[in-house]
Amino acid sequence: MSRLVVVSNRVAVPGESRAGGLAVGLEAALRTRGGLWFGWSGKVRGDSGRLHEQDEGDVRYVTMDLDQADHDAYYNGFANRTLWPLLHSRLDLVDYARETRAGYRRVNALFADKLAPLLRDSDVLWIHDYHLIPLAALLRERGVGCRIGFFLHVPMPSADLVSALPEHGRLFGTLYAYDLVGFQTVRDADRFRTYARIFGGATIESDGTVALPGGGQVAVGAFPIGIDAARIAEQSAAAVAKPAVRALRESLSGRQLAIGVDRLDYSKGMPERFRAFGRYLERHPAERGRMTFLQIAPVSRGDVAEYQHLRDQLEGIAGHINGTHAEPDWTPLRYVNRNFAHATLTGFYRMASVGLVTPLRDGMNLVAKEYVAAQDPEDPGALVLSMLAGAAAELDAALLVNPYDLDGVADAIARAASMSLSERRERWESMMRPIRDYDIHVWCRRFLERLGEVST
Ligand code: G6P
Repeated sequence: MSRLVVVSNRVAVPGESRAGGLAVGLEAALRTRGGLWFGWSGKVRGDSGRLHEQDEGDVRYVTMDLDQADHDAYYNGFANRTLWPLLHSRLDLVDYARETRAGYRRVNALFADKLAPLLRDSDVLWIHDYHLIPLAALLRERGVGCRIGFFLHVPMPSADLVSALPEHGRLFGTLYAYDLVGFQTVRDADRFRTYARIFGGATIESDGTVALPGGGQVAVGAFPIGIDAARIAEQSAAAVAKPAVRALRESLSGRQLAIGVDRLDYSKGMPERFRAFGRYLERHPAERGRMTFLQIAPVSRGDVAEYQHLRDQLEGIAGHINGTHAEPDWTPLRYVNRNFAHATLTGFYRMASVGLVTPLRDGMNLVAKEYVAAQDPEDPGALVLSMLAGAAAELDAALLVNPYDLDGVADAIARAASMSLSERRERWESMMRPIRDYDIHVWCRRFLERLGEVST
């Protein structure tokens, strides 16, 4: 079997905590298959390009430092102030500057310079996410000949939206340098094909391959990312005995728990979710005092202004909701910015009778899947899920809501809180089917099999 080389900006280096679906997913996939994981060290220091190596099991981690200027332009700049909002359909938040765009290209070229010497032609190379779109093209320029696949963890927006990015063709056109480009959902894959047709002059073959006017072609597919379902079920059953989980249970004094766990990101729809919870308290006065909502929201990309603004905003809304509805012995909304060990979170999920996953836009959302997988099969909780998350395509047995419809979300919370055991079990069984059948290992295998099949 050829060696697998994974490249992503964020690497789950052993022993360091991380948040975000990409690192969680890739960690599970690489642990089983072994290989090399290359990416940013997570450190901003010294000069860009210093490499660190570490082995753990069959995985070799090679990570690279970035200096302040590169990190500001590439990560805090073009990746997270231009591409992230664009890909999440937030044109109002897109900040475009030629300078950060140049920094993004410079860091991608540095990735290519450092990675190319480590590669053999027999390797299979799998590059991840919006930070590294041009990497295959830059590696090809440096003579790299192995198969290269790309997976976009976030949504692919419509061609109209993408065309708002200045010189979008110079960036999105580099996706044609891959042998296979994978997306979270069929709709994302279709939007990419449409983009390639309109702006790349491509034709689409019957198997969905994008054929370019110059003769090149790129295979395209939907590969919805999964979770390590078996492991999460085991972890969550064991986690209920953990002190943090027991302490949470005792603190509830018999009340129901609703839970949300999200990076502090504007794509996650937390202001709307908080307001919808307030609306639920107003619209269902008989339910008052029966449920506590715990929102865990570890700070993310804290150097970026839009994220700082969101944090201020959430503090205001949380304070307002508690100020309006709390009783001397009951705080309706508990808002926590610290991160928890993944195993502890699975224990929290299992204890919560309602899971609230209401992003305004999300590539997949693995919290939705983890919440379901962590439930007690005898007495599972109910999931309220945004129809604008990629996960909704598979988890259509959740209570699907439009996160902009606060009354609708408020009513779904009430319905979830009082759902009968038989309905909860039925919905849980249907949600578990895709979660079990299409877990993280199957995701990895399917993508790599397809990449192995494409003719290069
Ligand atoms: C999303 C992105 C990932 C990213 C993660 C965490 O899931 O798709 O690429 O790693 O968020 O964000 P961060 O900026 O901390 O890596």
